[in-house]
Amino acid sequence: MTVGHTSHAVAEYMRRTPKSKSFSEKAKEIMPGGVTANIKSFDPYPIIMEKGKGAYLYDIDGNEYIDYLLSYGALMLGHGHPKIVQAIQNQIEEDGTFLFGTPHRLEIEMGEKIRQLYPSMEMIRYTNSGTEATLLAIRMAHAYTGKRKIAKFEGHYHGGYDQVLLSVNPPVSAAGPADEPRSVAESKGMDPYYEDHTVVLPFNNLEATADILTRKKDDIAAIIMEPIQGGFIPAEQSFMDGLRKITQELDILLIFDEVKTGFRLGLGGAQSVYNIKPDLTTLGKVIGGGFPVGIVGGKKDILQASAPTSSSDVFDSSQSKKSGAKDVLFHSGTYNGHPTILAAGLATIKILEDDIDHVFSMTDQLKMGIQKLFANRGIAMQTVGLGSIFNVVITEKDQIRHYRDLQQADFALRKELDFHLLNDGIYTKPMNRYSMATVHGEKEVSRTLESYEKALLKLV
Ligand SMILES: Cc1ncc(COP(=O)(O)O)c(C=O)c1O
Repeated sequence: MTVGHTSHAVAEYMRRTPKSKSFSEKAKEIMPGGVTANIKSFDPYPIIMEKGKGAYLYDIDGNEYIDYLLSYGALMLGHGHPKIVQAIQNQIEEDGTFLFGTPHRLEIEMGEKIRQLYPSMEMIRYTNSGTEATLLAIRMAHAYTGKRKIAKFEGHYHGGYDQVLLSVNPPVSAAGPADEPRSVAESKGMDPYYEDHTVVLPFNNLEATADILTRKKDDIAAIIMEPIQGGFIPAEQSFMDGLRKITQELDILLIFDEVKTGFRLGLGGAQSVYNIKPDLTTLGKVIGGGFPVGIVGGKKDILQASAPTSSSDVFDSSQSKKSGAKDVLFHSGTYNGHPTILAAGLATIKILEDDIDHVFSMTDQLKMGIQKLFANRGIAMQTVGLGSIFNVVITEKDQIRHYRDLQQADFALRKELDFHLLNDGIYTKPMNRYSMATVHGEKEVSRTLESYEKALLKLV
């Protein structure tokens, strides 16, 4: 299939968004690339939004969009939900402050809610982001097992630091054999030490994974994984069952990074869908109600390593000569367990308890509608995903099971489609997955399908 009209779609994009263009140019003088998270950048320049309401975003040129990016999945209630606004206002008014700097009631309230929904998370600690959560979970795994390496799967993302920013999106030519991938650094400035100390595994390939783990079991403290790769490529049930079994046999901890899937696959995350009990879990995104948060939880005896003792305070100079600090796993953070954010998170869960099924049914409706439109035009594609997240993968392949399968998709056609959709008011960052929210209703879904129909007519 040939891709025509790319320049036409992008030219139309530029015609509709002149203020975004000049804003981006100004932003480039202040921030490298004009962005403060590289993921927010795309060619020719990103759209600058200035208002959000419910399912909609409005850019500085006055264009309206139905939002399916939803801040990379964080906003499962859409933009500015009035009950979240109310919860935040109440917390600040009732407590009289934004931050106590001490333990407080909402830490326990949220903790109890998390334990109820995620029974594997017997104890928890709060962090300020998903990145910090995976960082802490990995330190806990090293402390508990005494082993120095970790393993992760090719194509899985766990944050931007050296230990895990490996083989997330490697060029296949540099990525080694499919059944024993090489560890490929994804950034300049990374310490090559981690290319040796983070073992990369092939997702959904139990035999090859088991073989690598068996050979390296004495070094590997934990496997960290996205149960659903990139939020949309599901692990097969037999793979999950096998992985849980072999990690137990080899004394390797299993960390489910549910920063994307937590609350989005079900209130109890991927672990409730697969019926698997990981040793540690990390959460983020949805649980912050749109504010920065992370949670690490898991088995009590693993978490307990971070319980302070009377002689373990790193910041108390009177204790510097004592050995206690070294016996405790250090974890700290000025904003950990931020009351305002926990109030927003608790209110989010409450709404999802009533409305999550609506999100799933709208997601299914949109997926089926898109599939039908592609089928009508004779283009092979799949909507890949579970729960409230999916991706549109244009491919002749029967099934997308892992990173290497995904690399064979028609990215050029997908990008072209995305620009046509943007020009018609359907927002996701080009090439990104779709995340749905409680505020997506029949109206938004049918409007989106109309846009797809128009875009497909222009494409082929
Ligand atoms: C699975 C997963 N883990 C960790 C992270 C990092 O979270 P944050 O961006 O909050 O640091 C992300 C972010 O996209 C993620 O999807």
